Amino acid sequence: MQAMHPDIERVLITEDEMRERVAQMGQAITRDYAGQEAGIIVVSVLRGAAIFMADLVREIHLPLEMDYMAISSYGSGVKSSGVLNVQKDVSSDIAGKHVIIAEDIIDSGLTLSKTIEHLRAMGPASVQVAALLHKNTSNQVEIDARYVGFEIEDEFVVGYGLDYAERYRNLPYLGVLKPAVYATVDGQ
Ligand code: IMP
Ligand code: MG
Repeated sequence: MQAMHPDIERVLITEDEMRERVAQMGQAITRDYAGQEAGIIVVSVLRGAAIFMADLVREIHLPLEMDYMAISSYGSGVKSSGVLNVQKDVSSDIAGKHVIIAEDIIDSGLTLSKTIEHLRAMGPASVQVAALLHKNTSNQVEIDARYVGFEIEDEFVVGYGLDYAERYRNLPYLGVLKPAVYATVDGQ
């Protein structure tokens, strides 16, 4: 195992725990969608969910397509604006297909609820959510995520695809940053 990154205060979810849980999520999806007539398309919301998506689809043992959306609602800070700015839409025709949105984290739920609305308008057979993380915050839009990897407390996390100011996405585990790191990035 590699040494912990010096900016990380504590590891919340290790690489092994992550692998095990993502495998379970893939098994659940494989079970639930087996024998479906309509095609499955897993849509990842860039950029945070790219790593989760890559690991998840390799644990789903069914034919599927992969597609990507790029949405901005956060800027480089830590709070959601709630405005869905679609920078890149899905490339495939999702009408009549079973869509599974692979999302990194549900925080306020604003990004996801808007994304679901956006995809539903294209006439898919169904839309379900597979979220790696769900944050326990008080200010949440109700999201019925069928697959959730981990429930976490309301703190800012990085790694396994999640960033702070575009850094730390490549850490193989999920961790909490040292408070001094925020001070450096925000205040120069
Ligand atoms: P929401 O609209 O508040 O649910 O924001 C969801 C998006 O915010 C996620 O897709 C992430 O990109 C980002 N986000 C929320 N919480 C965190 C965090 O703790 N670390 C890194 N990114 C986060
Ligand atoms: Mg994201």
